[in-house]
Amino acid sequence: GSSLLSVTQITPAGLQLLFDVSQEMRQIVRTKGGDNRLQHRLLGTVFYEASTRTSCSFQAAVMRLGGKFIHVDGQGNSSANKKGESLEDTIRCLECYTDATVLRHPVHGSVGRVIQMATKPVLNAGDGVGEHPTQALLDVFTIRDELKITANNDKPKLTVVLLGDLKHGRTVHSLAKLLAQSKMTAQLTLQYCSPSGLEMPQAVQDFVAKYYNVTQQPVTNLAEAVATADVLYVTRIQRERFASGDAYEQVKGSYVVNNEIMSQAKSSMIVLHPLPRVDEIATEVDADPRAAYFRQMENGMFVRMALLALVLGVAQK
Ligand code: CP
Repeated sequence: GSSLLSVTQITPAGLQLLFDVSQEMRQIVRTKGGDNRLQHRLLGTVFYEASTRTSCSFQAAVMRLGGKFIHVDGQGNSSANKKGESLEDTIRCLECYTDATVLRHPVHGSVGRVIQMATKPVLNAGDGVGEHPTQALLDVFTIRDELKITANNDKPKLTVVLLGDLKHGRTVHSLAKLLAQSKMTAQLTLQYCSPSGLEMPQAVQDFVAKYYNVTQQPVTNLAEAVATADVLYVTRIQRERFASGDAYEQVKGSYVVNNEIMSQAKSSMIVLHPLPRVDEIATEVDADPRAAYFRQMENGMFVRMALLALVLGVAQK
């Protein structure tokens, strides 16, 4: 098995395999709840930052496949971090007991550092403002599933609006890169819509620009951008990444997707959000069939089941 730090490690063929296995996992869960292919296997979930979905879906994924998990709250009493233990030593310890580690850490670069010294697979569950590759995998799985994009159909033209804190949002960094390199579209247009100062990092734009069929555009008018979108990907302003509360207050609430914005969109458009949301999608939108963010959240478990099965060598049942 191998570690996953960045979506840049994933080939189009690897992505297709992962999605085929994810669909199989969805079928298995829906018909019989799971199976036992990870029986006697143990996953470590190590989180130095808050999480609802990523931690719970990885834990559910391993248990749905008959395995178990040990959870370490890096900020709490379930690790010796409070006594001054290094991240490396915590992982070194956990690896004695488990078969793979899922790691989230607030410092960009720390997951990569751990992967260098780890002896078992480590899956990046978010490293500061860096990447969140498993989120991008479930995002692209959801886009393909919702828009009925398959390997057999003609490749579509796709316009994706990425809205919000594109500077700090690691999910959009991973998603832009994965969409560009996945070769699943004939033409990809990425429209970046963010408050001033929270633009998509140049390094991500430079990576995306290497792919010939991708256009990147900054946009300022959300309603206009939404009118042409196939996917509206909304993100939260990442309060925890701001140097001061004042700086956050200046941009807080600067965009809200509500029914009025939705009335500008195509009937086939979908709204995604990695969640958690604060106030950037009004709850009135939840009842709109185009609101796909809760289906996206559910897909996270199927994709993580597939990823664990592939990494631990039990994808073929
Ligand atoms: N999407 C996501 O990473 O959610 P959590 O922070 O709840 O894990």
